[in-house]
Amino acid sequence: MKKITPLIFVLLSMLSYINASAQSLIWKEVLPGVWKGVAGKPEAYDLLKASGASPKKEAIAKIGKADFPFNRSEIAIKIIDGKTYLRFPLMKEEQLYGFGLNFQTVNQRGKILQLHVDHYGGTDNGRTHSPTPFYVSSKGYGVFINSARYLNVYAGTAVRKDSKNKPAEQDRNTDTNWNAQPYSDAVEILVPAAGVEIYVFAGPSPLDAIRRFNLYNGGGCLPPRWGLGFTQRVKSLYTSDEVEKEADAFEQKGYPLDFIGLEPGWQSKSYPGSFEWDKSRYPDPEKFVSEMLQKNIRLNLWINPYVSKYAAFYKNILPYTCSHTVWNGVVPDFIMPQARKYFFDQLKNNQIKLGVSGYKIDEVDGYDNWLWPDVATFPSGIAAEQMRQTYGVLAQRYSTEIFHQQNKRTFGLVRASNAGAVSFPYVIYNDYYKHEDFVTALINSGFAGVLWTPEVRASEASEEWLRRMQTVVFSPMAMINAWASGTKPWSYPDVAAQVKDLALLRMQMMPYWYTEFAKYHFEGTPPFRAMNLEEGFYQSNTNVVTNKNLQENPYVLATVSEVKDQYMAGEYLLVAPMFTGNKTRQVILPKGNWYDFYTGEYAGNGEIITVTPGLDKIPVYVKDGAIIPMQQPLLHAPRAGVKVDIEFRHYGEKDGYYKLYDDDGETYNYEKGDYSWRTIKMKKNNKGEWEGSISEAEKNKPCSIGNVSWKHVAPSK
Ligand code: GAL
Repeated sequence: MKKITPLIFVLLSMLSYINASAQSLIWKEVLPGVWKGVAGKPEAYDLLKASGASPKKEAIAKIGKADFPFNRSEIAIKIIDGKTYLRFPLMKEEQLYGFGLNFQTVNQRGKILQLHVDHYGGTDNGRTHSPTPFYVSSKGYGVFINSARYLNVYAGTAVRKDSKNKPAEQDRNTDTNWNAQPYSDAVEILVPAAGVEIYVFAGPSPLDAIRRFNLYNGGGCLPPRWGLGFTQRVKSLYTSDEVEKEADAFEQKGYPLDFIGLEPGWQSKSYPGSFEWDKSRYPDPEKFVSEMLQKNIRLNLWINPYVSKYAAFYKNILPYTCSHTVWNGVVPDFIMPQARKYFFDQLKNNQIKLGVSGYKIDEVDGYDNWLWPDVATFPSGIAAEQMRQTYGVLAQRYSTEIFHQQNKRTFGLVRASNAGAVSFPYVIYNDYYKHEDFVTALINSGFAGVLWTPEVRASEASEEWLRRMQTVVFSPMAMINAWASGTKPWSYPDVAAQVKDLALLRMQMMPYWYTEFAKYHFEGTPPFRAMNLEEGFYQSNTNVVTNKNLQENPYVLATVSEVKDQYMAGEYLLVAPMFTGNKTRQVILPKGNWYDFYTGEYAGNGEIITVTPGLDKIPVYVKDGAIIPMQQPLLHAPRAGVKVDIEFRHYGEKDGYYKLYDDDGETYNYEKGDYSWRTIKMKKNNKGEWEGSISEAEKNKPCSIGNVSWKHVAPSK
């Protein structure tokens, strides 16, 4: 090879200098209030491509036009050595939320994270089940990095020497206010690729920015009605007889139940899986599934996608699998249509066609020691790292597709997700079990475009059992996961009656949960979300949430006073769970009048209250003017075509208003317009009595609403 002459060398270094210099980003407003910026040469594979998400354009347009939400000339991009360096401005009083499904913190300003799909390991360091590269600012905008790589995030931690807002130097020898974490005015992100797509979502409020993000990802999922009922996962090695008996026990004892989850033992081999029924435990799967459906119980099957050599399709799928195995099973390359066909055809023909209603897709997150390493290769050419970031997304996407083809909705569980997967009907769970952190995860799920269940497994004592059960019935999936413990809702006899009441309350609230999920789907509003997103939260009269100290030091709020133990559930409810050992707790009520959910009693306005609810109750508060639709406490969700009576409960002094969603509850016909929103109002008549009204049912649209009645919930005078 010829020697590089000095001149060429100089030219080459100049070129790489030009490459490394600041790049200008071209921004394009792709939809109202949504901008896309392209830095360098983005990779062919990214989060939106993995999920195939298609934006809900009309719904985004309805949120309204908006200006670019911050000074875009302050965004800095550099591409050096095949990596993209991103910097976004950050103002003094700004707080940051999001960066995935965190478990211990809500405010993310001041964090250093590596966004990496993993099983949660007990620290909010970016490694989590859904490390969604999306953050929301309290200033009312969101930023999304559409990359399927591990991203390094410095969320307001680093200080550049050329910063316009550089903190003053302090002398630790003499200055008692010396700060080890000087003020930083930027969010910086390192993307290990020579280019990336960036999206900015306008508000005006932080919740609007989230709504635009969710809608850009296809809108939230709309579960079937039965998905919002109660679910029990049975012990791993149960037989079909035992499962049937378990369903009968629920019925006889009067505990609601909509679906049962079978754990690894339904398969003839598992870890790695055969994806076939075990004939000794399930001798006649077809008969079993149909008998269960007659009992109004659906079945959800545990899988992880790693294929045993005993699986019937093993030889066929082998050429389309990863270089490395997981628990000795081969890893299907879901980018390849052949791998998808062999894998998902097996589920379709062997299970879904028999009437199985969904899956729990386990182990698609981590740990590193179990999963394929980053040096693994996949036949599609997708890097192991990109596969790690999106394997859960792909599994959700292609399993949902089979149910969609059958025009049947599903609602399942998954242990890994990412941006792009907002519309897939899956709820994240894990093996971690700290009740307090499960509540914080529920709050953060609303920033991460995912759903999360604070599942109940077993407890040391009945108090804990009841407290956990209270949280789970106010969550996306009301589930006992008894795969190891074999617990039942009535396993702790001294609280069995309370647990039954809670499970029945969940059923009564089904029209509310269902409508709130419809809002997630059609309007992008997360059904479970942080207090910080609530209008009036920052206006409340409490030191905890005022911005007073923030101007001085933005870390004060981040470290001392975040609100991570209470959350909003749907439009009108504020839920403040109790934890083991608590007799009382404080609840922050945003500005506006709030009322006790159970009694209608006035609770407060823009203040911190201290409550002593007793063991039976989880504190729940309702906004002034709320209407909560309640049905009878059924043991199973109503099937398509069945009508249920609804009592509309009104709270407070303001006129009541609610938009109630209705469709058949089971199929995808809503995509063709087979749904309606009924307007519910409650006003005082001229005698001073509360009177309700409901708009007419739309002609030729499914109607599940039977007789209606009205109740103004208030303590008797
Ligand atoms: C774990 C999962 C548990 C249970 C178990 C069965 O990975 O998180 O919920 O399904 O597998 O082996």
